[in-house]
Amino acid sequence: MPVNSRLPGFYKLSPSERFRKIVDASGLAESQLGAFTSPGDGMMAIADRMIENVVGMLPIPLGIAANFTINGRDYLVPMATEEPSVVAAASNMASVARLHGGFHTSSDQPVMISQIQVVGLRDPQAARLRIYERRRELLDLANEQDPFLVKLGGGAKDLQVRIVEAATSTYVVVHLIVDVRDAMGANAVNTMAEAVAPLVAGIAGGRVRLRILSNKADLRLARVRAVYDREALGGEDVVDGILDAYAFAAADPYRAATHNKGIMNGITAVVLATGNDTRAVEAGAHSHAAARGRYTSLSHYEKDAAGNLIGTMELPMAVGLVGGATKTHPVAQAAVKLLGVSSAQELAEIIVAVGLAQNTGALRALAAEGIQKGHMSLHARNVAIAAGARDDEVDALVTRLKQGGHVRLDRAQQILADMRSGRS
Ligand code: MEV
Repeated sequence: MPVNSRLPGFYKLSPSERFRKIVDASGLAESQLGAFTSPGDGMMAIADRMIENVVGMLPIPLGIAANFTINGRDYLVPMATEEPSVVAAASNMASVARLHGGFHTSSDQPVMISQIQVVGLRDPQAARLRIYERRRELLDLANEQDPFLVKLGGGAKDLQVRIVEAATSTYVVVHLIVDVRDAMGANAVNTMAEAVAPLVAGIAGGRVRLRILSNKADLRLARVRAVYDREALGGEDVVDGILDAYAFAAADPYRAATHNKGIMNGITAVVLATGNDTRAVEAGAHSHAAARGRYTSLSHYEKDAAGNLIGTMELPMAVGLVGGATKTHPVAQAAVKLLGVSSAQELAEIIVAVGLAQNTGALRALAAEGIQKGHMSLHARNVAIAAGARDDEVDALVTRLKQGGHVRLDRAQQILADMRSGRS
């Protein structure tokens, strides 16, 4: 059943009503998404197998972003984040993009790079070429490590040999270029790098040190493009404000870091919800932002002839559907089910679309009313709860906190004390 990602009034429902709505909208059986509401008794045992020294778990809110249309298909997007306004902003911008056909995406094949560092070389230039001369033999040896991946059409496809001039010596660095299909690929490429390392060392006449993937996964880029309707954004001045904000980020690394952080608010939330490696994706994104030697904006904005805003973005997206927490964590499994994706590339493309929507949402708020207005209600709620308000006190405390303008814990505690003593 095709999914309809438009969920009018969704935000007004209770969590359990929203769950029901998502079950209905997805056409999935309730049991397939059941982990969202109760990950199950076995979760502690699963956690204990995932990392070391486990004593408990940290529940993070999981929300569903609405309104996403990507390449003509609707998706309900699970986002795991502790930050208020993120899910709302993504859903909001997806509804604006939808007016002009939603998000259009593309991506490279799922190709990762594994590095092998060779040290102690007498003739690094010649060593580099000797390695190229044995390319086929090295690739065959790498592929022997993972016949299953090769059967799926993946495997080591090529190698590149670089000279890296370090402070104290010159290294030869071999890049194994591996198509990892629907995996994130770290295990596959690390195994291959370790397996070919002795042969590389012998050919080069040096000693191998590191054998590890590169998180600068710039052969695995995902791209997104969207047209945001001028009027739905708030008019010409808001569009121009967003363009000014973009120009600021493009020119100034201090602003670019914050601009890109806003993009990562969306990206990391989907990466986490699907059990993928948030740090790997973040490292890839920030290395890409500095790819031309100066840290800058990951996204780009332009205006079309009608004055609509065009947003585009391209960045490495090393995410998988098989292996790791994506396979072992029941909530991640439910998230992947809800997305209904059939390949790692499709998942990567959804993630960059959410990143762009998140960025446009932040810039729109900054260019129009400022970010605090949107944040304030949820922030005030969090502060009220932190001040110790009971369920029946939260709404009244939030209203009073917001009236005074300063939403701070000390004020919340004071107002709460006054409320309880009948002084207000
Ligand atoms: C806050 O988490 C993200 C923003 O700072 C992003 C931005 O400034 O573009 C609002």
